[in-house]
Order: sequence, then structure tokens, then C-alpha cells
Amino acid sequence: MQIEHKAGRYSGIICDLLAYPIFEDEAVDSPELQALNEETGGVLKAVLSSGELKPETHNVCRIHKPRGLKAERLLLVGAGKQSQFGLSRLRDVAGTAVRNGRLAGCATVAFVPRGEYPPAKVAQVVTEGGFYANYEADVYKTKDKEGREVEKLILVTSKPSPGKIDDGIKRGTVVGNATNFARTLANEPSNILTPSQFAARALEAGERSGLEVEILERDQMEKLGMNTLLAVSRGSDEPPKMIILRIKGQEKGGPKASVHAFVGKGVTFDSGGISIKPGEKMEDMKADMAGGAAVLGAMSALAQLRPRQRVIGLIPAVENLPSGKATKPGDVVKSYLGKTVEIINTDAEGRLILADALAYARALGATHLVDIATLTGACVIALGAVNAGMMGTDQQTMDRMLKNCSFTGERLWQLPLDEDYRKAIRSEIADIKNVGNRSGGAITAAKFLQEFVEDTPWVHLDIAGVDLDHDGRPFASKGATGFGVRTLVELLS
Ligand code: BES
Ligand code: MN
Ligand code: ZN
Repeated sequence: MQIEHKAGRYSGIICDLLAYPIFEDEAVDSPELQALNEETGGVLKAVLSSGELKPETHNVCRIHKPRGLKAERLLLVGAGKQSQFGLSRLRDVAGTAVRNGRLAGCATVAFVPRGEYPPAKVAQVVTEGGFYANYEADVYKTKDKEGREVEKLILVTSKPSPGKIDDGIKRGTVVGNATNFARTLANEPSNILTPSQFAARALEAGERSGLEVEILERDQMEKLGMNTLLAVSRGSDEPPKMIILRIKGQEKGGPKASVHAFVGKGVTFDSGGISIKPGEKMEDMKADMAGGAAVLGAMSALAQLRPRQRVIGLIPAVENLPSGKATKPGDVVKSYLGKTVEIINTDAEGRLILADALAYARALGATHLVDIATLTGACVIALGAVNAGMMGTDQQTMDRMLKNCSFTGERLWQLPLDEDYRKAIRSEIADIKNVGNRSGGAITAAKFLQEFVEDTPWVHLDIAGVDLDHDGRPFASKGATGFGVRTLVELLS
């Protein structure tokens, strides 16, 4: 999709669909609505008084051949209450406009943003929302595809704001495409996206965006002693891969400079292993690499945006299956860090691969760690599909991430990490065991990870509830959400 900016009146814009947001609590005679109403010869008042448009968020009304406009269609989009409006809502409302255009077969959609925000931010979120909405997970459909892709999105502003808008569009294009890239990876079935294929896609993305991609093979990981990671992949015929991402040209940072490491869980399919899962919804476990996908998406965006701070990405990629070779409950392995782990439940595999990846990130020089993982069903029970769980020892970074939520739209909720939760994962025979009891499951999982980050400042994001959207939204197709890409990119911006 091409993004274009036009400054001036929207009435002269030639397009298939012109979208205009209307607030729920906005007076019909507000200066803006008055102007729209006059330009369209009273169409707006007619629609609003008929009650056909309830301007609650994302409700829409589409009018063909509106009087006074060059557009083929006018789309009024509910933008909700003014007090709840902001850049995050603006992104979604722009998305609703594009998706409505897509479903109606419109090639060119124009969007008029509302509210007073910095022009670069407005351009960024409208662009991001546009790309997000135009995405459809239909690569495997040979017929009956939904709608048609919108080819051009025109951002209409009253003022030209030279430079600012173009910068925002560029940024939004990079982040929007990176988010959709992460969604594509997470939507791939596990027979296609094996750990090897994940590594191949990382290499391709590296070529495209300026990432240096290194892959650690099984024999290298054996030599390094990454036995908690290898224990997870033992049951599978697919070889494990450790994907390491660096931004080209960043290697020369001084020795004292901070280095962030993003570590993403990359379980390409989680059957549970010998502690096998029940069949219901097991197919969702093809997306158990959504954290890894978010890291690859964010790193490919950052390689293009060139942040000043140094950042590396690590994705331990494995498949968790039962077999005659698989790890069994009660097995003990020695991790890369040297701590021994009693594997009580082979379905608590994410923390096992992250343990080695986090410790290895520190060995690579990381001074700040952020991991992102579809880690626990307990987090889904606690926070549902609305907020991701956030825990960690780096309160400063967590506070920044919380502050960024109102811009990224990716909501985070901090859970506690008191030392008392550590008791649940004490082992009788090893340094630690990989599961506690059922209570506080999201937290005890984080406590396990904490053993492997030691004193390095660290943030853990549990995205188990938010990585997939089963219902679809007015601005998004069903399936993978790409959650985390915007959060990680924004952290380094
Ligand atoms: N990948 C799952 C967590 C998950 C569950 C993600 C539902 C998305 C939706 C993880 O590997 C897992 O199986 N966790 C277990 C841990 C338990 C054995 C301690 C869980 O949450 O049941
Ligand atoms: Mn599992
Ligand atoms: Zn898992």
C-alpha cells in the first residue's frame, strides 16, 4: 500500500472512500461538523438525526455519491468519547476506515484525522493503523479471499507541516510492515514454519532491512552447554536454531555503552511434549513463537530506524514434541549458566529455552534484558486478551514501557515478583525445578527466568493472552496480532 499526504480541504480529494471520524459526544454544530455538513449539503445532519450512525467507537455509516465531495463514498467512523480519544484510538479508527474500504473493494482510501496531536505522530499512527488493517491472513486460500487490498491511503491534513508528516509516514510504514511481518510468521502453520524455516526467514529479513543474522546450530549449542534449550527440542526431528540478530553498523559501540537484548520465545509448535496437552485448541500452539516473531519484527524495524542505543535480538527456536527421544518428567539437565534444572513438566518448555537464551544474551554483552513470550496459561486467566503481563527487576524500563502504552496501544499490566514466590520452584534434587503448583503460575514462571538473568536489569512480557485474536476487530483480521513489535520499537525510540 502506498501512503500519500495531501494538505488542504478534503472535499476536493478524488478517492473511492473518504473517511471522517465523528465523536460520540460531539455537538452537530461543532465548527468541524458544521463545515462537513455544509459542504455535503446537509448529509451529515441527516445521517446523525436518523440515528443510523451510532458514533460509538468503530461504528460506521457509508454514503455513496455524497453531495459536495469529489469522493465516491463518504465513510463516517465512530471515534468514541473525546475524553478517551488519543493517538492509540486514532490508529485504530484509521484502521477501521482502511478495513472498511478493503471489504468494500475500494482501491483508494482518504482519511481525515481528528484531534490535536504532533503531525509526525498523527502520520505515524494513521500509517501504522492503515497497514495493520489492510493485512489479511489468506496466503493459503486459493479462493474466496476477503475484499481486495487497498492500494493507496491518502492522509488529509489542513496544514502542510513540511518534513514532519513525511517522517511520520516513513516511520509508520516501517513499523506497520514489521508488525505485519510478525503476524505472518505467527500465523504460519508449524509444518511450514519449523525452526529451520524461522531461521531462513530471519536471514531473508536481514538482507532486506540491514540486520546481521547469525544462526547457532545444534552442535554449537551442545558445545556451549545449552542443555535446557536442547532438552526441549530432543523429542522433535526438527533441529533447534538459535537466531541472533544484530544491527549492521552498531557493532562499534564503546565498551561502556548500554546494550539492550530482546529475547523472544520461538517454540514453533508446543504439543506439551511427554506432558502432552489436551487436544482442544492445540492448533493455537503454532503461534507459540509469537514472542520470537515480535523480536524479529522489531529488530528489522530498528535496523531501518537506526536507534542510537545498541540492541541485539535472540530467538531460541525449537519444536516441543513427544517421542522416544523426548525429555521426560523428572529429568535433570544442566543449563548454559551452570544451574541444574529438574524438568517436572515438559509443557513448561518456554522458560527452559529462555533460560539459556537470557544467560547467553548476557554472555554476548547485554546490559539490559527484555524477554517476550507466550509463556503461561495462568497469565491468560489473570489478564485475558486485553493486557499482557509484565514482571521484572528493571523498574525504570517498566515505567517507560507503561508510559508508552497510550501511544503504542499495546497494553501492559505489571504483576508482582516478590521473593516469596521463589519457594514454589525449589527442587529436592536440583538447583531449581521448572514448575510450581497452579497458584500464581505467571509469576512463578517469571521467578524461574529470574534465576538466569541474575543481577542484569530485566523485563519479562508474558503475551500468552494477547498474541492471537480469535474474533477479529473492525480494524484487524483474525489471527496473530503482532503484539510486542510496537512496544519494543518504541522502547528504543
Ligand atoms: N505455550 C504455553 C502457554 C500458553 C497457553 C500460551 C495458552 C498461549 C495460550 C506454555 O508453554 C505452557 O504450556 N505453559 C503451561 C505451564 C504449566 C505446565 C506450568 C501452562 O500454562 O499450562
Ligand atoms: Mn508448553
Ligand atoms: Zn509453550
